[in-house]
Amino acid sequence: MEIIYISKSYEDTQNLAYNIGLKINEPMVFLLSGDLGSGKTTFTQGLAKGLEITKTISSPTFTIMKNYKGRMILNHIDAYRLESHHQDLGFDELIGSTGVTVIEWPDYLEELFPEEYLRIDIKSISKNRRKLIFNPIGLKYEKLIEDLI
Ligand SMILES: Nc1ncnc2c1ncn2[C@@H]1O[C@H](COP(=O)(O)OP(=O)(O)OP(=O)(O)O)[C@@H](O)[C@H]1O
Ligand SMILES: [Mg+2]
Repeated sequence: MEIIYISKSYEDTQNLAYNIGLKINEPMVFLLSGDLGSGKTTFTQGLAKGLEITKTISSPTFTIMKNYKGRMILNHIDAYRLESHHQDLGFDELIGSTGVTVIEWPDYLEELFPEEYLRIDIKSISKNRRKLIFNPIGLKYEKLIEDLI
């Protein structure tokens, strides 16, 4: 299953993610891929609002992972600088365990992916337009996005 959404603005991407965040009420894993500046963190910020997280979500590039408390815990991982040095970071236990885990640049962590997840690839079309390609793996992820897009 693949669903495509064309976002026309920053706010459009945030609103879409917010509406997805509102519906989350169990642990979930989101894999966000796309070029630098495509909107992965922007999407995460919207999702966080839907989880009633009030702190500002900033890019965790230099810290690899940040955790936020809301209705549920959000684990925000940016694996951009990680390459293959993740063995000792405890991600194995983290991914898919508690809370909602969002991973930017997930390709380095492929062997840690759970069986089910929602993958979102973001492609820049123009300055303010983005193509979001949703690939839900597993029924709960299909359900999560089915009415929204
Ligand atoms: N439709 C859109 N959706 C999302 N962001 C958009 C859109 N149009 C323009 N933008 C701009 O694109 C930028 C996206 O930045 P963001 O930090 O979310 O990207 P990123 O994919 O997380 O980058 P990085 O790989 O560096 O972490 C922001 O400056 C935002 O304002
Ligand atoms: Mg980012």
